[in-house]
Amino acid sequence: MELKKYQQQVTSELEKYLRRQKCPEEILNTSMEYSLMAGGKRLRPILVIATCKIFNENTDKCLPYAVAIEMVHNFSLIHDDLPGIDNDDFRHGKPTNHKQFNEATAILAGDSLLNYAYMVISQDMANSPKEELPQKIKVFYEFSKAVDRMIAGEYVDTELEGKKITENELQYIHKNKTGALLELCVRMGAILGNSSPEDLVRLTNYAEKIGLAFQIKDDILSEEGDEKVLGKPVGNDKKLEKCTYVSQYGLQGAKDILDQITKEAIKQLNPYGEKAEFLKELALYIQNRNK
Ligand code: IPE
Ligand code: IPE
Ligand code: MG
Ligand code: MG
Repeated sequence: MELKKYQQQVTSELEKYLRRQKCPEEILNTSMEYSLMAGGKRLRPILVIATCKIFNENTDKCLPYAVAIEMVHNFSLIHDDLPGIDNDDFRHGKPTNHKQFNEATAILAGDSLLNYAYMVISQDMANSPKEELPQKIKVFYEFSKAVDRMIAGEYVDTELEGKKITENELQYIHKNKTGALLELCVRMGAILGNSSPEDLVRLTNYAEKIGLAFQIKDDILSEEGDEKVLGKPVGNDKKLEKCTYVSQYGLQGAKDILDQITKEAIKQLNPYGEKAEFLKELALYIQNRNK
């Protein structure tokens, strides 16, 4: 299956960046590796590479950006699980970073993964031919903007726990905390693949929809997923009185919205035919995944 192949590619690419040397901060490095290699689905880097591939068979150029986004994603998960945010004990079927190590280590592992992402990108830029720099500087700026939005979304999500919120506020949380990074991935793949401005608009529409779909499905799984398969607690959104698509529209309501936006996402891909087959499969995977 193509997804598995991509997952392996991403994991072996990430392995090149692991720090395993003896040093005083060895445990910090181990804790970063612990989360990075815990068994994530690698959806974000896969979106970067698969989108780039629509426009360019050679996807080497986007690999550092694919690695960097997975580092940021893992930073966001480590901090999301901390006692001050979601206070979760399990992820990927294993103790969360702060449970396996301690809170200080988890906070710093997150910080370090965030910074490492920027190191990877800036190193790539430093080694790039001059003519690639304008494009890569644009990607770098988009990258930092998306991270900014993710953090803002996490903040609003945490602050509005237990409160009654409007549809707009709910969308704001989802679009920022989850949608921003997923949208970035598709846009980075398209830009680095040298897509046309029209293609970029179309793929951004696709990305916006799968970004929202992804979090709606996360909300549904938090309500009715199988904890063993999911590897993280079920029922925690309810416990924390999180504002979710399930709390707002009910389980069936959330599923109907998910179905609708998945169809809309796939429609965006029509002009690309066979070339976008895998992106289509990814949209369906997001809708139907059980972990
Ligand atoms: C979980 O993301 C956090 C959300 C943004 C909902 P993923 O489900 O993509 O995390 P992993 O990396 O595959 O575990
Ligand atoms: C996580 O959202 C979003 C980010 C980490 C940015 P959730 O808190 O809903 O995700 P899970 O369920 O813990 O993976
Ligand atoms: Mg959260
Ligand atoms: Mg959480």
